[in-house]
Amino acid sequence: MIYLDNAATSFPKPEVVYQALDRFARESLANPGRAGHKMALAAEHALDDCRHRLNQLFRGSGPERFAFTLNCTDALNMAFKGVLKSGDHVVTTDLEHNSVSRPLVAMERAGFITLTRVTADSGGSVDPDIVRKAIIPKTRLVALGHASNVLGTLQPVAEVGRIARERDVLYLVDAAQTAGVVPIDLQALHIDLFAFPGHKGLLGPTGTGALYVAPRVKIGAWREGGTGGDSSNPTQPAEYPYFLEGGTPNVLGVAGLAAGIQYVEEQGLDRIRSHEVRLTERLWRQLDELDGVEVFGHRDFDQRVGTLSFRSATLPAAELGGILDQAFDIAVRPGLHCAPYIHKAIGSYPDGLVRVSPGPFNTEEDIDRLVAALKEVTGF
Ligand SMILES: Cc1ncc(COP(=O)(O)O)c(C=O)c1O
Repeated sequence: MIYLDNAATSFPKPEVVYQALDRFARESLANPGRAGHKMALAAEHALDDCRHRLNQLFRGSGPERFAFTLNCTDALNMAFKGVLKSGDHVVTTDLEHNSVSRPLVAMERAGFITLTRVTADSGGSVDPDIVRKAIIPKTRLVALGHASNVLGTLQPVAEVGRIARERDVLYLVDAAQTAGVVPIDLQALHIDLFAFPGHKGLLGPTGTGALYVAPRVKIGAWREGGTGGDSSNPTQPAEYPYFLEGGTPNVLGVAGLAAGIQYVEEQGLDRIRSHEVRLTERLWRQLDELDGVEVFGHRDFDQRVGTLSFRSATLPAAELGGILDQAFDIAVRPGLHCAPYIHKAIGSYPDGLVRVSPGPFNTEEDIDRLVAALKEVTGF
């Protein structure tokens, strides 16, 4: 299988991640606890180790501000449901994934919040000035994805962060497509809430993610329960990260995630991103040669991650994706990519596009084989 669906989840993982998972599962897979036996302490140590790595990588204000979650969706829900109050206004964009737009629309329909969805330009970039103009006195939160999961375009996170801070509005960044690929300095970017998966660019296993909550944010507990210490308290202990982490965490996944983060840091984020972007650039150049193929998004490769979406004039995206899978053993992602608003805006709704997202282990040959398959299928 030629796997080109890394925007959904990365595959394969680095060898060190498989080794870490195997080792941890055999030796240390106890229920973590600060007041426990040696194996419980070892499991707790694995959580701490990963939190320290995340805090260093993203320049957070402390490892305890990172709460582990199931995935990025879980982190986003934790943020929205823990922070928003009745009557709040939220600014977001039409590039967002359903994990941002669905909880917000549900709150809007329930009459709990009001919502402004600013539109990206036709190439998939949001103008910070439009965000500025959308902020009103009732605005409590601006929620922005760092990169579009459809078009691969990077968004102006620094400018929007400055605007949010100037207006004293909370700033949430969804880094599903950039964590582990683009350097991020949470404090310099004025990010208050930062949601990311562990299983995409950070190369950890599925079932991992985290929410960073800056000290200035007041958030309610998302799930309450046992925390491996301080059992006498009748309610969730106020101490971070336990305040946000009731229940047995995915400590095995987190042990794998720590190995993924270490691998990404050793390789260098810039090197990984430029490898992935170079592969999409190669693909785009070859698609230019094919009649009837239309590629979407800005072509400025400095402002992109390695994700590219296109359609063919002869075959709907779903059919093309199915043929690539069944006849050529090539995994791409056809459809709407959980981001219906941007597909509507660029005219690819409801059929969607074919998304190609190479990862660190893909090669130029993978791209050339995809293009050869496309030529054969579409007859161009
Ligand atoms: C931009 C964006 N946000 C959020 C998510 C949700 O991530 P997860 O699958 O980890 O819940 C995705 C997943 O593809 C995404 O691309």
